[in-house]
Amino acid sequence: MSTLIKNGAIITAADTFQADILIEQGQIALLGQSLEVDGAEIVDASGKLVMPGGVDPHTHLELPFFRTVSSDDFYTGHRAAAFGGTTCHIDFANQRKGESLHEALAKWRQLAEGKAALDYATHVSITDLRPSVLDEIPSLLDEGVTSLKLFLSYKDMYMLPDGDILKVMAVAAELGMMVLVHAENGDVVDMLTRQFVAAGKLSPEYHALSHPAWSETEATLRAIALSSVADVPLYVVHITCAGAVDQVSYGRARGLPVMGETCPQYLFFTADDLRRPDGAKFICSPPVRTKADNAYLWEALADGRIQAVGTDHCPFLFDGTKPLMYDGEEYRSPGKESGGGDFSKTPNGMHGIEDRMLMLWTYGVGAGRFSANRFVALTATNPAKIFGLYPRKGTIAVGSDADLAIWNPEARKTVSAATHHTRADHNVYEGMALVGLPEKVFVRGELLVDGENWYGRRGNGRFLHRQPNAPVL
Ligand code: URP
Ligand code: ZN
Ligand code: ZN
Repeated sequence: MSTLIKNGAIITAADTFQADILIEQGQIALLGQSLEVDGAEIVDASGKLVMPGGVDPHTHLELPFFRTVSSDDFYTGHRAAAFGGTTCHIDFANQRKGESLHEALAKWRQLAEGKAALDYATHVSITDLRPSVLDEIPSLLDEGVTSLKLFLSYKDMYMLPDGDILKVMAVAAELGMMVLVHAENGDVVDMLTRQFVAAGKLSPEYHALSHPAWSETEATLRAIALSSVADVPLYVVHITCAGAVDQVSYGRARGLPVMGETCPQYLFFTADDLRRPDGAKFICSPPVRTKADNAYLWEALADGRIQAVGTDHCPFLFDGTKPLMYDGEEYRSPGKESGGGDFSKTPNGMHGIEDRMLMLWTYGVGAGRFSANRFVALTATNPAKIFGLYPRKGTIAVGSDADLAIWNPEARKTVSAATHHTRADHNVYEGMALVGLPEKVFVRGELLVDGENWYGRRGNGRFLHRQPNAPVL
């Protein structure tokens, strides 16, 4: 069965051109003008934009965190992603203390098994470095895992000392793996958090005050310096502030293979949002910062100082004492209220897997901040390239998987938790206007989203084995 998408304007990271797309056996078989194919199902994309489905390089589905679990699983998260134009993502298998990396990976794959509707891959996070753990890193490549995440923060939970970070980086360098870092100074965060808690300063704004921008800036430079010693490519996740952007630029200006990611929440929100009555919704780490940081990040996305936009999708209900009706079923899970009004106990994280492309299209491309091609680069092509998924994912080319989103540039909608697909009882972008929306979304040529209709199927998503030595952008 073949599908022919006709008359659309194709947008890739490099080009915009008018062409038809022939899809056969889940892949793009042909691109050309006025294609005619007997028996093909025709999809008319006149007046529409055809873009690669988004690749979200940073998500946490069903993450056990702060005595609860993030509220989207591999089915609900995939459904939400697809309605937002994202067709593929890379999650994190987080090692628990005492666990081997392969145990962490197996547990994580079990979570996705039978639920995934999109194709997906994983990074592995190392949080407990023992000699046996170091020894098992090479065999992760056999499992298709080519990227390792390290934390310079979350003391007594995820954080590794610099010496361990350097050891992992050295092994990763030998193997052509990529290292990702959560860059905040864990000692600074720990000390300030304890001080605020001891002083009874518990409200959400103290979350931001206990995670200062300088702690992120310092940790970003430290990670870059360590990666330079180990000679390993580095990807700094969820950059929030001008200082951290500048450290990435400093490294890149010296020829180091350093790349950076930001997330939508750091483009739209500030510490003022933490002072709202519902401020707990905005607690994430690192925290949302200032208007000046928002503006700096938008500029860095446009001019290439930042290479990718992920989401750090890690949603929690705002009020987990009430059941949420999702897809006709009641869903219950402790949420932000489980912190009891204490920022240090409130689950850290925000949603974004559905919102990323929608918000970046309207407020990035629509607002004239960058081109549609740059949008595709930031949300699909660059993440696919950086993490070894390209050209299978992240572009429109003969031989690529037919992961496509047909966007209607005229369609309008207002963001609302009442209509979103994320399994959360709130949407931090509530009330914001969207102009330009994905109307039809395909994964390997199969139609998953058509307007408000969902045709995705549990268990249809595939785990993606990746190759090491991905390019540095
Ligand atoms: O607050 C956040 N970011 N939660 C998810 C875990 C992480 O640090 O990425
Ligand atoms: Zn993080
Ligand atoms: Zn994260």
